[in-house]
Amino acid sequence: MAKDVIIACDFAGAEETFAFLDRFTEEKPFVKIGMELYYAAGPQIVRDLKARGHKVFLDLKLHDIPNTVKKAMRVLRDLGADIVNLHAAGTAAMMEAALEGLTRADGTRPLLIAVTQLTSTDEEHMREELLIDRPLDEVVLHYAENARRAGLDGVVCSPLEAGKVHARCGEGFLTVTPGVRFSDGDKGDQKRVTTPARARQLGSDYIVVGRPITQSDDPVAAYRRCVKEFLG
Ligand code: C5P
Repeated sequence: MAKDVIIACDFAGAEETFAFLDRFTEEKPFVKIGMELYYAAGPQIVRDLKARGHKVFLDLKLHDIPNTVKKAMRVLRDLGADIVNLHAAGTAAMMEAALEGLTRADGTRPLLIAVTQLTSTDEEHMREELLIDRPLDEVVLHYAENARRAGLDGVVCSPLEAGKVHARCGEGFLTVTPGVRFSDGDKGDQKRVTTPARARQLGSDYIVVGRPITQSDDPVAAYRRCVKEFLG
């Protein structure tokens, strides 16, 4: 299975994003586009990144009725995204509809992964606001299993959860993991972090790395260090 480093391009607009990526003259990193950049720059940014030779993880976390998600996924598929995602909380029916929308006439499709519980949600929120009484870990693994049963390719999770997800859903079920920092780097607002090398040991398939690369004085060197530590 392909393992890779995905750079989280959390920039405010297309110009800033392309200026950053222009620094990479020898490689074409896999990039993640989130809601802020997608809503600011519009769908054209995906076409432009693809035309420049990048793989694109479109992190829009869809969650709506199945028919709406199916139609929206068809649009994202036609933009050329390589990985897209949704909230597993939208139910199996929504996830299956999403897969239908993503699948091309020839049977190929972008990878589809699920967000289980956002890392900003804790057990107290779940119990008091959402009336979900089970331990967070159990909910995360249960949602991952729902995603696998619906036919999805994997989940977004912490590298610290990658082993448990693989144990429950199989080694081939992808774990795409943010929360990665260099051992000598700044943690920023991330709380539970792992190094790229540790993420590899824990079984992450793709690591998503933002500020340690984007805010570095030398982003290309930081990216190369990350690839070297993660891919060995
Ligand atoms: O800059 P940093 O490496 O912290 O960026 C991590 C990226 O992964 C950001 O785009 C952030 O929104 C995203 N992310 C995360 N934690 C999650 C889900 C997504 O950090 N649980």
